[in-house]
Amino acid sequence: MDTQAYSKISNAALIQELYRRYRCQEEALRKRIVLLGMPGAGKGTHSAKMLARFCMCHLSTGDLLREEVRSGSEFGKKLKGIMERGELIEDEVMCNLIKQQLAKPACANGAILDGFPRTIPQAEKLDQILKQSGQQIDQAIFMNVREQVVVDRLGGRWTHLNSGRTYHYKFNPPKVHGVDDITGEPLVQREDDKEATIRNRLNVYQSKTSPIIDYYRKKGILFEVNAERPVNDIWKDVKTIVKTK
Ligand code: AP5
Ligand code: MG
Repeated sequence: MDTQAYSKISNAALIQELYRRYRCQEEALRKRIVLLGMPGAGKGTHSAKMLARFCMCHLSTGDLLREEVRSGSEFGKKLKGIMERGELIEDEVMCNLIKQQLAKPACANGAILDGFPRTIPQAEKLDQILKQSGQQIDQAIFMNVREQVVVDRLGGRWTHLNSGRTYHYKFNPPKVHGVDDITGEPLVQREDDKEATIRNRLNVYQSKTSPIIDYYRKKGILFEVNAERPVNDIWKDVKTIVKTK
């Protein structure tokens, strides 16, 4: 057991994680699900709910990249500039990262892919990676939302860096201002949630990521959700889709 790694995690977060693993066993579905949608569509918000309920691993490529940036490595320094401009990291780097993550024991019960794939080459490579172990993407959930809605959401977002949990100062405030509900650690605003960067992220989404919607539609595994409603209403639909055989 890597006690060094655990020493960096608060007791409250560890206990919460143990409880989640114990409780979610009842509904382990062993599916691989892609969450699609613009920046701010609510992928992270609903990943957290799916994670608590269905025993899958949560692979947020954005969170993994931000962790690398925080490590201060040379590679992290390169990533930081690209992410702060709202551009995408190279496909090859991202595909290697996701391949390593999918092989981890935590993903044996299924996986939520949040922020990956983000280009058609990534989607094709993901299919190849999963095929090697007899797996596939079972569902792609497209969280549909208009641009003007996400600009407001991202401008007010607060994030707990270690877990990726997100809040919104108006729509989903933490119990105590500026503090994560679970760990009591401080919340921060993401560097790429500044207005100019948000605009670029939305342009990049339209040109490079949105074609993936049709990629999964053609495979007959696309499920569309109106993601402009309150979180609990969206969650009801997402839950029903995930439970669909
Ligand atoms: P990433 O971290 O994936 O960012 P993103 O896709 O831009 O999406 P966000 O995390 O901003 O939004 P979300 O949909 O998760 O929304 P959330 O639930 O937080 O990627 C960041 C960067 O990393 C990229 O720009 C790129 O540089 C790089 N990268 C990552 N993956 C890559 C890849 N595969 N290839 C290449 N590069 C990659 O919600 C947002 C806010 O709204 C929150 O405050 C939340 O509380 C609130 N909210 C959510 N739902 C609702 C609702 N229904 N009503 C009201 N408020 C709501
Ligand atoms: Mg996110």
